[in-house]
Amino acid sequence: MTNAPSNLLQLEWPGFDPWRIQAVAHRLSGHPLLQLAALIELGRRLERRGLVRTHSDGASAGTPFNDAPSLHPNARSAADTLGDIRDARAWMSLLNVQTDPVYRQLVDAVLDEASLHTERVDPGMHHRGGWIFISSPHAVTPFHIDKEHNFILQIHGRKRVYVWDHRDTVAVSERARGRFHRMHERDLIRWREELRERAHVFDLEPGQGAYMPSTSPHMVENGDEPSITVSFTYFTDATRREARLHAFRDWLHSGGVPPPPLGRYPRFDRAVAAGAHALVGAHRLAQRLLGRKVAPERAAYAAAHLFGGAPD
Ligand SMILES: [Fe+2]
Repeated sequence: MTNAPSNLLQLEWPGFDPWRIQAVAHRLSGHPLLQLAALIELGRRLERRGLVRTHSDGASAGTPFNDAPSLHPNARSAADTLGDIRDARAWMSLLNVQTDPVYRQLVDAVLDEASLHTERVDPGMHHRGGWIFISSPHAVTPFHIDKEHNFILQIHGRKRVYVWDHRDTVAVSERARGRFHRMHERDLIRWREELRERAHVFDLEPGQGAYMPSTSPHMVENGDEPSITVSFTYFTDATRREARLHAFRDWLHSGGVPPPPLGRYPRFDRAVAAGAHALVGAHRLAQRLLGRKVAPERAAYAAAHLFGGAPD
């Protein structure tokens, strides 16, 4: 890891709030690993490992995110699709690019630099990941949430990114968020056109981007040109705590004990968080005692099999 900032990302770092949606500028648009020819080769490599997610431009804001590839299939290979992206009428994500040795260096270059600033206010960066999105004109990423903090950076073309606050229970209810954290299901996350009025809207051009805190709902509409976008993602100690809290609250709800809205009774929230932490610790200890392999909670990089989602 390097300690020398190279200003790949430009934010108002001194006032950085890890739970606030904010604009980002970057210097990655000309990076050789993010040009189409290199991405076609990366697509070939990742496709062999099942690390490509794709659907057609038939998907809309309201398409269930998890089901978009099966509801609107794109049957062409990664190389065929990417080589013809202007006319392919497709959306494609190259998943977990940090598992590729060449692209891991890019993920580290960006997140090493970010961590010099984020660790001060949001310590424990782990499960680093990289995701590259190549899409045809007017393709849409359906409305959804992801677990990671996300620097989403526009490399080529233009797109409009809608982002909602992670505490916006009108956009995504607490129950939907809890179910996502507990079961990684997004079936209670539902798009409505009127949500557009509540969103932060970023009209991104190359060199621009946004920071989206963990579980900020988002939806993306591509412009008139093919688009290349890259996301650098990570978890922190705080995102892990939040995930446990929401998952445990959902477990209470599913057991017939619906918890009060988050924040109404801070002492109750703290007790639930402590209970969730103790339960996870006990479960992990039990697994070890049974001789089972337990993945480290703070691995440096995300594992390709973890979620199979796509933080675009
Ligand atoms: Fe996403």
